[in-house]
Amino acid sequence: MQDNTIASVDFGSSSIRLCVAEYTNGALKVMGVFEKPSHGIKNGIIKNFEEASSSLRQVLNDVELSLYFTPKKVSLGLNLSAYKEYGMLSHFKCGIHVDELLKTIINDGVQFKDFIKLVNVNGIEVDHIYPLPLTSLSVVTDEKSRRDGVILVDIGSDSTSTVSVLDNKLVSRDSIPFGGKSITSDIAYILQKNTNYSKALKEEYGASYEALVKDDEMIKLVQHNENILFSRKEFARIISSRVNEILTEVKKSVDSFPRCGSYSNVLLIGGSSLLLGITKIAKDIFLLPSHIGFPMYAEGLSREYINPKFVNVLGVLKTISTRFEVR
Ligand SMILES: Nc1ncnc2c1ncn2[C@@H]1O[C@H](COP(=O)(O)OP(=O)(O)OP(=O)(O)O)[C@@H](O)[C@H]1O
Ligand SMILES: [Mg+2]
Repeated sequence: MQDNTIASVDFGSSSIRLCVAEYTNGALKVMGVFEKPSHGIKNGIIKNFEEASSSLRQVLNDVELSLYFTPKKVSLGLNLSAYKEYGMLSHFKCGIHVDELLKTIINDGVQFKDFIKLVNVNGIEVDHIYPLPLTSLSVVTDEKSRRDGVILVDIGSDSTSTVSVLDNKLVSRDSIPFGGKSITSDIAYILQKNTNYSKALKEEYGASYEALVKDDEMIKLVQHNENILFSRKEFARIISSRVNEILTEVKKSVDSFPRCGSYSNVLLIGGSSLLLGITKIAKDIFLLPSHIGFPMYAEGLSREYINPKFVNVLGVLKTISTRFEVR
């Protein structure tokens, strides 16, 4: 690996994503983005080491096949849910400028020794470890919007993690153990279908804002080897009730942190932010303009990765490049 090559990994509960880039003359050039299903990680924590290691190995195989090398060093993005589980949320002091906070983040090799071991057994060293989605602010917001105040909500699979910033300073950070998986479980329970089928239905026809779905729209469900029709509005009702619950919890948590001033907008990232109409629910709950956070363009980044699912892995990459600058 060239000295100017950097790599980041987002250890999600449903996917592991890895990004490799070159950093030359102050500019990032993405060499590849890789993704594989993640096994053995629950709510941001390693529950089955062998499964998690095999998932990482599969991503690394893709890297090797595509780039003809594997990175020697990677920086990790770990969900705030993992920091919460280990009682480490207080490491991120509210009231501190976000850039300063990211510069002073120290690796907690003790708490995250499993993740470090997971990377090491695959022949790679761990550079830095960052909390997600704190590092993601840099790829979905600019300095002005961080000054004006933004709530960044990462709705993943097992959890929803949120950071909020006003005047460029951290105001709140928290994680709740509900995300896309809870929505899938509701669908599976109500429709009496298995998890994989329910997840696929959600991703294809899911809507979280009923008013966006026409009254007569129907979706096809397979029942005892036959196709039956089910109201898409009814389907959206199942989803919207859980999404409402998740975002209401998030708002309660954000509001529980003292702040001077008001936020200007809400940004949603993570796979579940792809649900049709989710920004409308966020707008109703937070009473603020709400948008999906798409990663800013970086050289070499294909269009398929300009997607809220890839914001976290790109955010870690951008953060390391900032450190690279000062080396
Ligand atoms: N098009 C889509 N519509 C609705 N939901 C989607 C879509 N695509 C992915 N999802 C959901 O997004 C979730 C995965 O999101 P993401 O990849 O951000 O999670 P993760 O980072 O692996 O998990 P976590 O952050 O909780 O550890 C899954 O529940 C998946 O069903
Ligand atoms: Mg995630």
